[in-house]
Amino acid sequence: MAKKIVPVLMLTALAALCLAGGEAVPADSGAEIPAGEKYVALTFDDGPRRGTTDRLLDGLQERGAKATFFLIGQQIEDNADLVTRMAEEGHQIGNHTWSHQRLDGVRPDLAAQEVRQTEEALEALLGGGEYWLRPPYGQVSEGASFRVPLVKWCVDPRDWESRNTEKVTRAILDNVEPGSIILLHDIYPTSVDAALKVVDRLQEEGYWFVTVEELLWLNGVTPEAGHMYRTGRG
Ligand code: NI
Repeated sequence: MAKKIVPVLMLTALAALCLAGGEAVPADSGAEIPAGEKYVALTFDDGPRRGTTDRLLDGLQERGAKATFFLIGQQIEDNADLVTRMAEEGHQIGNHTWSHQRLDGVRPDLAAQEVRQTEEALEALLGGGEYWLRPPYGQVSEGASFRVPLVKWCVDPRDWESRNTEKVTRAILDNVEPGSIILLHDIYPTSVDAALKVVDRLQEEGYWFVTVEELLWLNGVTPEAGHMYRTGRG
């Protein structure tokens, strides 16, 4: 396990260094990335939720796996301890609007307020930073502008529909490949179980679980505000 944790932390530190410099990753930094490694990003929407998110965090910690959480703003205050823990344990934290509001087909000022209110809650708890956005239902209005990168997904096991651990696990394992961004919801016990089974299985196959930000960096992609990322390759 330790063998896996150390290099990821090193890469995270390198990524942080590059991001802090505000510059693109230098072309020759590819030498730092182990060739042929398989990286994948688990993403969790609609939390945090006590009873499921904390169990997921325990499981990810045991396995040395990082993930990305897109939080609903109005659930942050009551679960502040869980959100702080996510940050402390190296997970990426993002924005899923204040009240799970669709961002397409609504007034631009309402959409902006839904995003801003969650940013403010995260800034109050964790400090300033960039909180990437996953729009509910993966949709935004055409022409809308955003100050952060947007994150969609390429593997969707529809965990909210089946709420069946085996089906969700199988749907992910059948469709995953290096660079995949996987959509799950940490508000369902079945999704937490499936996520941890997937981590166990794919780690055996040589996959490393990283945040979306790390996944892009490892693929040489420089994140841009307003761009919608579906895989680690862009
Ligand atoms: Ni959602």
